[in-house]
Amino acid sequence: MATGLIRRAVSVTRPNSSARLILSRLYASEAEAQQVDSKAKANSKLKTFEIYRWSPESPSKPALKSYEIDLSQCGPMVLDALIKIKNEMDPSLTFRRSCREGICGSCAMNIDGCNGLACLTKIESEGPSSTITPLPHMFVIKDLVVDMTNFYNQYKSIEPWLKRKSPPENPGKEILQSKKDRLKLDGMYECILCACCSTSCPSYWWNPESYLGPAALLHANRWISDSRDEYTKERLDAINDEFKLYRCHTILNCARACPKGLNPGKQIQHIKQLQLGGGN
Ligand code: SF4
Ligand code: SF4
Ligand code: FES
Repeated sequence: MATGLIRRAVSVTRPNSSARLILSRLYASEAEAQQVDSKAKANSKLKTFEIYRWSPESPSKPALKSYEIDLSQCGPMVLDALIKIKNEMDPSLTFRRSCREGICGSCAMNIDGCNGLACLTKIESEGPSSTITPLPHMFVIKDLVVDMTNFYNQYKSIEPWLKRKSPPENPGKEILQSKKDRLKLDGMYECILCACCSTSCPSYWWNPESYLGPAALLHANRWISDSRDEYTKERLDAINDEFKLYRCHTILNCARACPKGLNPGKQIQHIKQLQLGGGN
């Protein structure tokens, strides 16, 4: 506004031709700026994000807080909206994120009722609002950050590393496997441990301490299926348990929730077949 007033004041002093040229450019750029401004207003698309807020430092109960943002000024993904809110509106908003490309698994949360990665979930442009809450049935540390301790302990309990009985043929060298054996790990090695599957599983909701859940069991099967591992029987015995394994009732919420397109329920079925003496 101040710039506009100064420009008008200059114009009444009857400028020479070069000054007129500069002025006409100034007027042109002012008009352009107004055009851009009105275009931006026309293109603006407001959307409200209802976000779960709770802090252990505050006595108030958890509540949804509304943030309205202009989608034309925001990246396309839900994580872009969260980062914009944190950077421009409310720095106290707390969530995990790192890679921003579906690799680290840290931005898992519940978006409009479905578990997913905020960095891979597009903002729904239809509908006036989106609701974002932490992963279901998990203890909340703050806002969208949940306590993953039990989940990681369950992963650790399946001993997710190669175990051998025989001494290495070529010490210090890789233990090779055929392409066919390597293919058996497809659909499992891609897991990023985001916990979207386990926290969408009703059996895991009701028995989070005793049922290992789809993510840990998928990894159990990953090592059971590895041709280089020599503890297959011990691994099968360790999870042959009414609670650790057999709480899975093949509801397959886990496959629907996995942002990497994996099917933990199918891997659990494979373990059960092996327990019964079938499969390979
Ligand atoms: S298939 Fe098993 S692990 Fe997957 S959601 Fe259903 S009960 Fe849970
Ligand atoms: S199986 Fe899929 S949903 Fe489950 S932890 Fe792995 S990547 Fe996440
Ligand atoms: S930020 Fe890494 S998976 Fe979303």
